[in-house]
Amino acid sequence: MKKVVSIAIALAFVLGVTMVMAATAPEKVTLKANPKKVVEFNHKLHSDQFKCEVCHHTWDKKGEPQACLTCHKKKAGDAPKYFKAFHDRKSNHSCVGCHKNLAKDGKKTGPTKCAKCHVKK
Ligand code: HEC
Ligand code: HEC
Ligand code: HEC
Ligand code: HEC
Repeated sequence: MKKVVSIAIALAFVLGVTMVMAATAPEKVTLKANPKKVVEFNHKLHSDQFKCEVCHHTWDKKGEPQACLTCHKKKAGDAPKYFKAFHDRKSNHSCVGCHKNLAKDGKKTGPTKCAKCHVKK
């Protein structure tokens, strides 16, 4: 009995943490590392459909995921350059890569044309 209770408490703790984490996912994010290429990103639309670590691929599942720019810099270093993080045509971590892969599989997807993400104001 004691064991059952401690498992229940452990489970409640895990669920509680999960809920707190889900609550930290932002509704909208503006990517503006390059002021000439600002992108409004509907984060909720995406985080409702995909696991966090599909995009936050280095996240340890504790605390807040780090911004892509923390590692992906203007020029390639330990991580591929910033441009590649969003336009890599193969990787599901990248905006364009995921949209392309889903289109290939005939699934509902997002845009791959420049102007659809880089909206002129
Ligand atoms: C489809 C891709 C994708 C998914 C899925 C996703 N995110 Fe994000 N998230 C992003 C991108 C892109 C950013 C902007 C990062 C940046 O500014 O460099 C971001 C930003 C964030 C930020 C703000 C980070 C900061 O420092 O500005 C938090 C917090 C966050 N996401 C949490 C989550 C959580 C929690 C989940 C899962 C419930 C999740 N995300 C799912 C792509 C995604
Ligand atoms: C803590 C550092 C770190 C963060 C934060 C990070 N990345 Fe990465 N990323 C890397 C490293 C290192 C690589 C190269 C090794 C690998 O593929 O894991 C990489 C590779 C990639 C690739 C190429 C994948 C491939 O298959 O080679 C893409 C695309 C990518 N990251 C997108 C993102 C996006 C989008 C975000 C933010 C939502 C992000 N990354 C956040 C470190 C990071
Ligand atoms: C893991 C897959 C995946 C990744 C990564 C991803 N998307 Fe999407 N995106 C989708 C899917 C699926 C849809 C269609 C969602 C729907 O209509 O319900 C979509 C729809 C969109 C749309 C059209 C709907 C809207 O919000 O206007 C835009 C724009 C978009 N994505 C931008 C981005 C940007 C910018 C990034 C990177 C920061 C990104 N996406 C990363 C899967 C992805
Ligand atoms: C699915 C969405 C999406 C599509 C399609 C897209 N981009 Fe991007 N692009 C982004 C995101 C997100 C960023 C990061 C914006 C920022 O932080 O300023 C970005 C940034 C850039 C940057 C700045 C990179 C840097 O290192 O400064 C350039 C240049 C760029 N895109 C060109 C293009 C071109 C050209 C196309 C069409 C061939 C294109 N993009 C299509 C999402 C997209």
